[in-house]
Amino acid sequence: MKRLTVPRIRARKKDGVTEQPLVMLTAYTARQAQLLDAHCDMLLVGDSLGQVIYGLPSTIPVTLEMMANHGAAVVRGSYHSVVVVDMPFGSYESSPEQAFESAAYLLKQTGAAAVKLEGGEAMAPTVEFLNSRGIPVMGHVGLTPQAVNVLGGYMARGRSDAEADKIVTDAVALEKAGAFAIVIEGVVEPIAIAATEAVSCPTIGIGASARCDGQVLVTEDMLGMFERVPRFVKKYDDIAGMIEKTVATYAEEVRDRSFPSDEQTYQPKS
Ligand code: KIV
Ligand code: NA
Repeated sequence: MKRLTVPRIRARKKDGVTEQPLVMLTAYTARQAQLLDAHCDMLLVGDSLGQVIYGLPSTIPVTLEMMANHGAAVVRGSYHSVVVVDMPFGSYESSPEQAFESAAYLLKQTGAAAVKLEGGEAMAPTVEFLNSRGIPVMGHVGLTPQAVNVLGGYMARGRSDAEADKIVTDAVALEKAGAFAIVIEGVVEPIAIAATEAVSCPTIGIGASARCDGQVLVTEDMLGMFERVPRFVKKYDDIAGMIEKTVATYAEEVRDRSFPSDEQTYQPKS
């Protein structure tokens, strides 16, 4: 299987219609990428790795180096999906030039095909700058976790008319600037639909609407690995429960000396 490309992802939405929704999940490690790759169109190396991998309180402290290291691992572990790497807080907001330097570093270090950045209209010139210089950009509007200190929390967006208008305006500005796809996160359904209908590029929903052109979730959340998850996460499994059960069995067998058994033990040739 040849790796999908950004233009092929973009072309999945034709004349406002996406026949088969785009499938995206987060991945942070090579093995995780291997397991997800064949089932996905895109793998997102999300800055959610701050909380999920590093136990940080938000995505604010995540660094370019963290994104580069995990991005490289995910590219090494995949051969089919388009790999998109999140630009971390502080690496792109001050100018298009700063964003280009950071994004070029990420693509060079990882081999990923595209970056994602948060923000709407204010980021449109940056999206244009990167795209016209060879770096495809995925946008991200609505609940943008890097803005938690401005938003005051992680609640759903688009409940007031002003907020709703801004989400649609932001999405349109990003697509005009050349974003190849746009994540819509934590947005009330009618506004997610309005934004999806307003842009010609695919929208990828998370806590948004089944009418988006694709869906993304944090893999650990949907696998049931992470303790606290937002309401919009469907837990497809209880991997945390499986790990706990398995580790309890291991601990018991070590303590009662039934592991290792003869099968796992080397003996000199007789
Ligand atoms: O960092 C992340 O995982 C994300 C997705 C949830 C969209 O940005
Ligand atoms: Na993110």
